[in-house]
Amino acid sequence: MKARHIYLLLYLFVTTSVDSFNLFSYVYERCDSNWISFNAKGLQNDLDTRLFGQEIAALLIMKAVSRFMANDNPKKPLVLSLHGPSGTGKNFVTELIAKNIYKKGMESDFVNLFVASNHFTHSNKMETYKSQLKQWIHGNVTQCERSMFIFDNMDKMHPGLIDAIVPFLNYYNKIDGVSFRKVIFIFISNAGAQIITQTALELWKNGQDRTEIKLKDVEKYISESVFNNNSSGFWHSRLIEENLVDYFVPFLPLEYEHVVQCLMALMKANGLPQKRNVARRIARDQIYFPKFERVFSLKGCKGLHNRFCDDV
Ligand SMILES: Nc1ncnc2c1ncn2[C@@H]1O[C@H](COP(=O)(O)OP(=O)(O)OP(=O)(O)O)[C@@H](O)[C@H]1O
Ligand SMILES: [Mg+2]
Repeated sequence: MKARHIYLLLYLFVTTSVDSFNLFSYVYERCDSNWISFNAKGLQNDLDTRLFGQEIAALLIMKAVSRFMANDNPKKPLVLSLHGPSGTGKNFVTELIAKNIYKKGMESDFVNLFVASNHFTHSNKMETYKSQLKQWIHGNVTQCERSMFIFDNMDKMHPGLIDAIVPFLNYYNKIDGVSFRKVIFIFISNAGAQIITQTALELWKNGQDRTEIKLKDVEKYISESVFNNNSSGFWHSRLIEENLVDYFVPFLPLEYEHVVQCLMALMKANGLPQKRNVARRIARDQIYFPKFERVFSLKGCKGLHNRFCDDV
């Protein structure tokens, strides 16, 4: 081989390794600003246009997440606890948050979802779960301080399990050399749904708008009721006792018009023409409560996709 050829090969090797290094960081997710950066406008827009009937939750979430993400030196991790009846948008809003922080949204390696009813099923394995959970969170935050942990079905979680991770949620500077202050923890549950629904119903009966719900009262009732419910993961939890939850976010039961909005959004997402008359017909067929007044949809916007596929 001639010297000219060797030079050429050497040149190709050096330039392609630099390029492939750049390419690598574009293709493989890393804990850096290419992959993790908060899009405040995007979140506001998603909350305004895609989340229906949850003005209070939208307001709280926007405030909480934007303040937290704008602070480069938070004193503690952000802890949100989402409560409300089924199909009202608790998981949906979590997806919107993830999408506007992580380029890969819920698919990001830095977003961790635990479903209590799937991951922590055996009550005799609680001590193992506790240490695994601690190790998992510690390990992941060591890799990336802007990690997100979502605990779904908190009301089905074994009471006591969540206390294992309470130190991570606190105001500590570092635990075993790792800072948890930039982490977001989101707890999701139906706990407190009864008190939220009752309050929304009272407002409706008094002819008041659902946005007039008094946040202070609802927050207090939610935290008291979940703390005192001995079948919930929050039961007598230090999470509540030590005031580590920054925001208790109420999700209100959805009304007929919101179900129509969900159906219209589904049609659009599926590339179909948005037919309001069809949306109204499907929405009318849903189950509403109280039985005679038919104010709130029993399943919120959940399961509409199947109905929608059958009907359109
Ligand atoms: N308020 C809402 N605005 C827009 N879409 C909604 C809303 N609530 C629910 N949806 C739609 O319904 C689907 C199911 O809702 P989601 O999974 O968020 O309910 P949930 O509150 O977590 O219910 P559950 O308590 O049963 O888990 C969502 O993916 C979304 O498409
Ligand atoms: Mg859910």
